[in-house]
Formats: sequence, C-alpha cells, structure tokens
Amino acid sequence: MTVHFSGFADELLDHAAVGRPFSELPTPAPLVDLAVLEANIAAMAAFFRGRPAHIRPHAKTHRAPAVARRQIAAGAPGVTCAKVSMAEAMVDGGITDVYVANQAISPWAIEHLCRLARRAKVAVAVDQADNVAQLSAAAVAHGVTVDVLVELDAGLGRCGVGPGEPALALAQAVARAPGLGFRGLHAYEGHVVQSADEARRRAETERMLEVTMETRDLLVRRGLPVHEVTCGGTGTYDISGVYPGVTEHQSGSYVYMDPGYHEKVPRFGLAFSLLCTVVSRPAPDRVVTDGGLQVLASSPAAAMAKGHPEFGPSRLSEEHGKFQTLDGSSSDLRVGDQIEVHPGHCCAAANLHDRVFAVRGGRVEAVWRATARGCSQ
Ligand SMILES: Cc1ncc(COP(=O)(O)O)c(C=O)c1O
Repeated sequence: MTVHFSGFADELLDHAAVGRPFSELPTPAPLVDLAVLEANIAAMAAFFRGRPAHIRPHAKTHRAPAVARRQIAAGAPGVTCAKVSMAEAMVDGGITDVYVANQAISPWAIEHLCRLARRAKVAVAVDQADNVAQLSAAAVAHGVTVDVLVELDAGLGRCGVGPGEPALALAQAVARAPGLGFRGLHAYEGHVVQSADEARRRAETERMLEVTMETRDLLVRRGLPVHEVTCGGTGTYDISGVYPGVTEHQSGSYVYMDPGYHEKVPRFGLAFSLLCTVVSRPAPDRVVTDGGLQVLASSPAAAMAKGHPEFGPSRLSEEHGKFQTLDGSSSDLRVGDQIEVHPGHCCAAANLHDRVFAVRGGRVEAVWRATARGCSQ
C-alpha cells in the first residue's frame, strides 16, 4: 500500500519533531545549527549597520521564508531572488520587498512578476531593450509599477549590458517606459567572489565597481537619477559592501556557508549540514554513510565531515558518502554512528530539501519549510 501524506500530515510530522533529539531524525536529515545561523545573521547585520549600503540577502541559499524573516528582523529591507518563482514563494511567506536579480523573459515570468507587484514591492534586472518593452506592456496591462535595475557586465561575463553608452541607452529606455521605474544599476563580481587570492578578489571587485560608478556618473550627468547600485556576494561583503556609491549588497551564502567558502571568509560559520548515518565500515580507514549526491548535491568543492579532521574530502556517489582517513589510520566510527556532513556548496544542497531542521543543544527547535525549493522558473 502506498501512503500519501497530505500537507496536514506533513505539518503533524514537523510538529512531532520539535523538541526531540535531532539524533532521532531519519537520516540523511538537513540541519541548521541555530546558534551559528544567528551569529552569521548578526555578524552581517552588524557589519552593515551605520554604513551607506545595506544587506539584501540572496534567498537562493536557504529558500526558506523563516530564514528570510530573521534576516529582515536583523535590518535587511527585503531579499534578493534568483527567479520570479522564488520571489513568489518569498512573498507567499510574508516577505514584502523582493528584488529579482535576473532577467524575467518568458511570458510566464513577466506575467507572474507583474502579478507579484500587486502584492509586494518588486524590482527586476534588465539587460536588453526588447525585454524593457515587454515588461512595460505587461506592467501597464496589470496596472502596476515595476522597479527596474539595469544589469551591467562590468567583468563577470554572464548577463548584463556593456557599461557606458549601452547602459545609458537602456536606462533611458526604462525611464521612458510606462509602468516601469528606473531605480539604478546592478553589477555582480561573481567572477572573483570566491577567489582564494584575497588581493585579486579585492582588485577585481574594485575594478568592476570603478567601471560601474563611471556609468552611474554618466547616467546622472544625463539627467537620470541612480537610486541604487546593487552588487556583491559573501566573499566580497567587506570589499564591495563598503565601496563608495554601493547602496545594496546581495550576499547569500554567509547565512549557511560551506567549507570552501568558510576557508576564504572565516567570519561566517558553518551552519548547514546533513546528518548522516554510517552504514558500512568496509576497511579500517574507510567510512561509508547514507548521504550522497542526492542529498549533498554535486559541486566542484567536496563535502566535509564536521568534527572529523582525520578525513579527507568526501567521495560521493548517488546515495553514499565515502570518507577515508588522510593518513590511513583506523577510524573509531562504527556502523550506526551519526556524523554531520557540510556540503561542498550549501546553496545547491539546501535546494534538495523541502524542510530544514533548526537545531540547538542537540534538539530540534523548529522545522522550517524551504518553500522556494526548486523555484527556478
Ligand atoms: C546575482 C547574484 N548576487 C549575489 C549572489 C550571492 O553570492 P554568495 O552566495 O556568494 O553570497 C549570487 C550568487 O549566486 C548571484 O548570482
């Protein structure tokens, strides 16, 4: 017999987990260490407090309105989103100010963006004139105003219009378009945000922002007020976050973190992990767990076992995680023991789980729904 849990039964299961030792959870289980998460949110909020720029955290890391609400309670005006459907899930979860830091191109995305603008403060990025015309027509049809930022390619080599005259022409098109409000410029230093070479991270980020500010000045000289310049990721929070003229910072990973990022930016702790069970001990120096790619996600960086520096980086297959001691020594772990594993890329791993167990002192304190999980539309 197949048992289908209704949403209500799901809620009951969540409720039943609260207050119980997290070691009782069926594994692999996604955990958020509340103390570390709270410290990360507080540290980022403290960094931006009193500075000209504010943090608008990227929700693609956690995809959970409960986490977004904590970031907003700490001072963020709203969240950054990667897609329109993610923004919808955030607004459904009570967030009232969302920036879609990406193009809304498909008729579905444009339609839903405009519908969302009836319920929340909504902004979106553009990098082409046709899209400006489509957004404008839809906004007028819906009777809404959508704020728009012109996305610059000032070094990333992904989306974005060229700086200078091309950006000016696009910004003028936005400013002329009914139903749209020109807010400013979006640039993202994604090409260096995780660079291990701190000097390069700084130099390339500042170079990108120099170009961005030249474009901002050009727009202002030509009579277009630039209210926002938004950019940034966790690896550059203290570089672009303090650069003169930047008004918003989009760091996302800082709230959960992963080992590779933590090594470069130790200010933020590892809050997210998968609780896994040791399922096999095929050799003294080898431990196999029940957490593989299906729960930890594929990523160029390896997953790491928390509190087990004797292990090298994991080797993952779909449903297994393999850990081997670095020096060939015997591991003390036994079949049935549990370990927490930090994924190589926290955002990709969090996107695999409908819920996350928020834990403190060995117990589940809350169960948070990642309602924007899989929202890539
Ligand atoms: C446009 C944009 N802004 C901000 C971020 C957040 O970066 P991070 O997760 O490194 O903090 C990303 C990451 O993918 C991004 O694509």
